[in-house]
Amino acid sequence: MENRIGVPKPEKSTCGVHRASTCGDHSQLERPTEALTAEHRTIERVLDVLERLSRSPVENSLDDWKKALDFFVHFADQCHHFKEEQVLFPAMEEHGIPRDGGPIGMMLMEHEEGRTYVRAMLAAIPLVERKNQAAKEILVDKAKAYLRLLREHIQKEDEVLFRIADEVISADEQKVLLRAFEEHEAKEMGEGVHEKYLRIVEELETAMA
Ligand SMILES: [Fe+2]
Repeated sequence: MENRIGVPKPEKSTCGVHRASTCGDHSQLERPTEALTAEHRTIERVLDVLERLSRSPVENSLDDWKKALDFFVHFADQCHHFKEEQVLFPAMEEHGIPRDGGPIGMMLMEHEEGRTYVRAMLAAIPLVERKNQAAKEILVDKAKAYLRLLREHIQKEDEVLFRIADEVISADEQKVLLRAFEEHEAKEMGEGVHEKYLRIVEELETAMA
């Protein structure tokens, strides 16, 4: 089965890095935006790794590039963006926050833009493995574009969109949305997936230290 960005979908979907994430256990949380904000902190850790990778000779670190891209495909997009696009944003629309021409529409466009950068990086990797010089430049350029986009995007969500969500969605409804997050994860995630992605983040940080 293929996912939206055209790479093979894993048998189980994959959010869940516990150190800064809330994936898998939302029982201590009051609001869905708390879960999403914590996931942003985890995503930022891997963006820092990507920045370091983009400043080094890429042919020496292709395994780390692949691990980072795997994280962005599965943790950042399939899990985190799914929660925003399928659970939080529709709830905000029900409370009068417009999709078209408003902040939700902008966030959705930026998610799509991010997917194009990840797709381009994934396509460049096998060409870099075959010593294609142009592909190295594409890989680094797309990584820089993705870094810029996602860091600013995360800031907009944390500082603007999530504050709106916290205001317009009632406390009771927030609990319902948190349960929807849990249901998504219970349905899609497999045992050991949290640990797998935690290991990937920590392995990448160790490799970059
Ligand atoms: Fe987000």
